[in-house]
Parts: sequence; C-alpha cells; structure tokens
Amino acid sequence: MSDIPQERRVVTAIPGPKSVELQARRVAAVAAGVGSTLPVFTARAGGGIIEDVDGNRLIDFGSGIAVTSVGASAEAVVRRASAQLADFTHTCFMVTPYEGYVEVCEQLAELTPGDHAKKSALFNSGAEAVENAVKIARAWTKRTAVVVFDHGYHGRTNLTMALTAKNMPYKQGFGPFAPEVYRVPVAYGYRWPTGAENAGAEASAQAIDEITKQIGADNVAAIIIEPVLGEGGFIEPAKGFLPAIAEFAKDNGIVFVADEIQSGFCRTGQWFACEDEGIVPDLITTAKGIAGGLPLSAVTGRAEIMDAAHAGGLGGTYGGNPVACAGALGAIETMREMDLNGKARRIEEVMKGRLAEMRSKLPDGDIIGDIRGRGAMIAIELVKTGTKEPDAAAAGSLAKACHAEGLLVLTCGTYGNVLRFLPPLVIGEDLLNEGLDILEQAFARL
Ligand SMILES: Cc1ncc(COP(=O)(O)O)c(C=O)c1O
Repeated sequence: MSDIPQERRVVTAIPGPKSVELQARRVAAVAAGVGSTLPVFTARAGGGIIEDVDGNRLIDFGSGIAVTSVGASAEAVVRRASAQLADFTHTCFMVTPYEGYVEVCEQLAELTPGDHAKKSALFNSGAEAVENAVKIARAWTKRTAVVVFDHGYHGRTNLTMALTAKNMPYKQGFGPFAPEVYRVPVAYGYRWPTGAENAGAEASAQAIDEITKQIGADNVAAIIIEPVLGEGGFIEPAKGFLPAIAEFAKDNGIVFVADEIQSGFCRTGQWFACEDEGIVPDLITTAKGIAGGLPLSAVTGRAEIMDAAHAGGLGGTYGGNPVACAGALGAIETMREMDLNGKARRIEEVMKGRLAEMRSKLPDGDIIGDIRGRGAMIAIELVKTGTKEPDAAAAGSLAKACHAEGLLVLTCGTYGNVLRFLPPLVIGEDLLNEGLDILEQAFARL
C-alpha cells in the first residue's frame, strides 16, 4: 500500500481550488455524458483514504464502485503488476498467450462455487463479461431468449442496456435495444406488497409463471441475476427466491448466470454472494474487485457450457491483459492472506450496529425505511417520514453533507433513494467508525 496516512483531513472546501480548476478543464474537454459523483481530483489513494490534489484526505466508502476491495494501491497488486509491466504490456492472448491469463482462470475455477470441471474466458469490463455469458449460453442451448429481473443492472453496452432495468440515466434516448430480453419480478422484500416474509415464494412463483406463460421455458437460453442487486438498491432477494429460480433453470435446461460483478470477491463476506443460499450457478460473471483496480472481467462456468462457443467466437484484443491478470493474482493473494471475507463480515457487524443505533435516535416517523446488505455491501433506503415513499432528496442531501466533511458515499436504487456503503475491505476500524460518525452528524443536521 502507498504510505498515505490513514487519517481524514479537510484543509480546503470540498472540492478545493485545484480541483475546481481541473474541473473547469474537464468540462471543456470531457463529454458531458460521463458524470462524477464528486468532482474532487485524486492525487493518490490507498487503504481507506483518497487524497485529493488540494491535500484533503477523504474517507472512502465507495471503493471506486466496489472495485478497490484490497485498497487502491495494494502492495501485492502494485508489485505484481509493476513486474509484469516491465516484462511486457501486451501480446494479445489470441496471438501469443501467457501464463498469467491461465493462472487467473485456474484461480477462478478454484474459488467459484461447485466442484465440477470449470473453464473461464477473460475480458475487460463487466458489461463485456455479461455479453459473453449470453453468447455462451445461446451457443450451448441453441435458444435465444434471456430473462432478467426488475431492478437489475448489467451494464451500458447495447445488449446490457437491454438487460438493465432502469431507464434514466442508463437507457434514455439510446434505443433501440437488443431483442429477446424479458424482465420478470424479483423478491424485493422491503417493497413486496404482501410483506417481506412472503416475497421469496410469491416473487419466484410469479417470475416462473411469466417465463412459462409469456416466453416458454424451452425458448430461454439464460436467466441472469445479481445475487445481491447492486445499482438497483442493494436488494438481497428474499430467502428462497434464488434457489427456486436456480432449480427452475436446471429443470428446464436453462443456463443460470450469477452476475457477481459487484457482489463477488469477498465483498459480501463470502467469495461469492450466491454461496449464501448454496447456489451453484452454471456461469458466473466477475469484474470490479477481481483485479485491485485494473480492468479485468471474466465468465467462469461448467466446462462443457464454456466450450460450446466455436474457436474464435470469444475474445477481444485486450481481454485478459497481462498487467490486469498480474493485478488480479495480487488482489486474490491479498484477499486470502488478509482474510478479507472475515474483514467484510466485521464491517457488516460494525455498520449495521451503528446504523440501527442512528435509526433508533431519529424522531418517530423514521426516514430510514430499511437497513440491508451483507458484508461491506450495506445500504439504507430513505423514505418520507412515516411512509414507504422513496425520498431521493434526502439521500442526495445526506451524501452532499458527508462529502463536505470528507466522507465519500454513493447513492443508488431504482428510485435514487438509497445511500450505499462500499468501503475497501482493508479499511481500518477507526476510519470506518469516523465515517459513520460523519453520517450520524449529517442525519442530525438533515
Ligand atoms: C452487477 C453488475 N453487472 C455489470 C456491471 C457492468 O460493469 P462495467 O461497468 O465494468 O461494464 C456492473 C457495474 O456496476 C454491475 O454492478
């Protein structure tokens, strides 16, 4: 890790003058469609801290959207990637291969659920992995339909825009979208009309009924689901939902794909979130946390399914870049050595305890409607006093108040009313508690 002090420090307004100057250059040079949560320009980052160009040190509760689980400058990632950088930057695995790619695929076979024979293919981004999972499932099943869920998020490319549920900002004005994509209900416990306790059974029955009646199970190549829905609001499908859908897929020859791009690699306190209910997916998509900040993604799954695509049908110039593979091996080494699953579970314990305490101190007509998530993937859903009406303005105000004090938090959710916490798993407990103090003060001032 870089020697960046693990202490919050606010020495200017946030953003400070140097960030403001850079932001003016950015606005002139960078396309408006690319947004930023907080226009504070980074100088260096590591552990639980992001240091900006003005010398402020922010507590990081975002991890670059669930990427830097091992920190943004983890020793093993920097060491292995730097050594690889000096050896060679690229040959293209499709031209002359290299060992790092194979090693990452071996690690994926070992770490993902199930003891069946597995193979992987590597890509650059999460969306690319999801697109390739669809290609592989179609090649294996010789079917075309793809089933996804309410509140799901799978990316911003053409096919993954179709798979993603939320229109604004991801889809608006960017159609037409890819055909043969069908959306069915998910067991969103907090908002399930007959109550969370019924959500698992009722939502799975509804989803299966819609698939059977409206699409025809025989036409479905793949069912794709995030075991904890990320951008949609950190929704853990109510218990029983995932097993019922996985079983339905199995009974009907449908490829069950777990999109673990956000929830994977120790984020929820297990290597993969689908392990929580003992699910063994046919295919798993991974990215984000896999490589300590370097761009890498993968599709991993049953060897016979993975081999269904003809030679040359999968790949891409940069897929499984050697520097990114070295970074992944460094990140996985760190996760094992530091027991980051254990760290994620401890973060959950601290966060959920503090959040419940904050909620109990709020006057009646609680605006924290729900506290949920697992490991270091925790969120609160904000609602208008005494109702379940989403309160996006409260989420925005709280985020802004935290930013001003040097705590980086992110929002998400179909209704924009969820404040989510994704600290690096290596964050110190003092820093974690200090971040939560800032959030508590922001609530007091709201
Ligand atoms: C579950 C899930 N799938 C896919 C993606 C897309 O990944 P990328 O942004 O790397 O294309 C994301 C990104 O947030 C994600 O959370």
